[in-house]
Amino acid sequence: MAYDIAKIRGQYPALADGRAWLDGAAGTQVPQPVIDAISDAHRVGLSNLGGPYESSRRSAGLVGQARSAVADLVGAPDPSCVVFGPSATALTYRFAATLADGWSAGDEVVVTQLDHDANVRPWVQTARRAGLTVRTAELDPVTGELPVENVTGLLSERTRLVAITAASNLLGTIPDVAAVAERAHEVGALVFVDGVQHCPHAQVRIGELGADFYTTSAYKWAGPHLAALIAADPQRLEELGPDKLAPAPESSPERFELGTNPFAAMAGVVAAVEHLAGLDDEATGTRRERLARSTASREAHEDALAEVLFAGLSELDGVVRYGLPKGRVTPTALFRVPGTEPAAVAQHLADRGVNVSNGHSYGWETVHALGIEQGGGVRASLSHYTDESEVRRLLEGLGELTA
Ligand SMILES: Cc1ncc(COP(=O)(O)O)c(C=O)c1O
Repeated sequence: MAYDIAKIRGQYPALADGRAWLDGAAGTQVPQPVIDAISDAHRVGLSNLGGPYESSRRSAGLVGQARSAVADLVGAPDPSCVVFGPSATALTYRFAATLADGWSAGDEVVVTQLDHDANVRPWVQTARRAGLTVRTAELDPVTGELPVENVTGLLSERTRLVAITAASNLLGTIPDVAAVAERAHEVGALVFVDGVQHCPHAQVRIGELGADFYTTSAYKWAGPHLAALIAADPQRLEELGPDKLAPAPESSPERFELGTNPFAAMAGVVAAVEHLAGLDDEATGTRRERLARSTASREAHEDALAEVLFAGLSELDGVVRYGLPKGRVTPTALFRVPGTEPAAVAQHLADRGVNVSNGHSYGWETVHALGIEQGGGVRASLSHYTDESEVRRLLEGLGELTA
């Protein structure tokens, strides 16, 4: 079996507690090689950059390796496209502030109801300060889809940027970002893609997506709490003028990174990408080739489990699932049990050893569009290490509640 789920699960110490970890969209667990890489980095010793000794060179090496690893993961042209930051939220605020230098009052930005608030509020607040108009693309509350024309219909000659998610963290919906990007580029707008939910579940080629910028958070794909912004073209980073300390590097991508990078966490990022590249036992070749093969196997595994989840939910009379998109979705379902608050449903499941999220999960615009801003929903999100027994436990727990 090329995708050996038992073997994969065996690498995750946290899974040994026997619970069903169905909260991957809120953050995945970390495999032993990532834990080892982080602690080994500390064990051998790390120093800040610029020292004429080995521990300093090791830190510099880790930064470069982490950039290469993320570039491989998302199909970026080269490591200089990769900017690290503490979180996707922080990176988006940083780029919003930087991009706004080129905006004038009366310009426009487009955000969407499908997005996590991390790819909405930074643009809304920055736009307000710069005198821009914000246009919000509406999702279809029945299907949970974001029709392309709902975004492209808002474009004008004044549109400076479209902020769009590559996958909804609540509904799993995958909008046609490439089609949106094509139209956005025709009017001269940049496309800022939130890949935080997308990257752990899809073969990412940022060039094919048409993203000018793409964010991803390593803690959603078996890595540490560290995020990256990837520019499709390193020249884009050269054109921007971020606020920075006077003595901080002038070169990109370094000048976008504030303060000292978390070198040990970067060792964890490299190990996490290697781990993802090795999920399929038959993956061979360069890291990009191994990632391509392992990601295809991971997608097949997750899609099959998502089918079990979606079919099981639809068979439960007392469960209402939100958004029923037609195309492929990430393995995520948002639902409610009418008559029982989402928090109580999550508690019921937690008492039975099943971890799921509840509430809005920061999909602020989405829960409002769905009319469930009071209490949000229950979100079950599967990961590359989920097995079928965990999905069955969730369904059994829900079955008890709705019987
Ligand atoms: C789709 C999506 N975008 C952005 C974020 C924010 O990521 P971070 O925690 O790295 O700021 C999340 C976090 O859950 C998310 O799911």
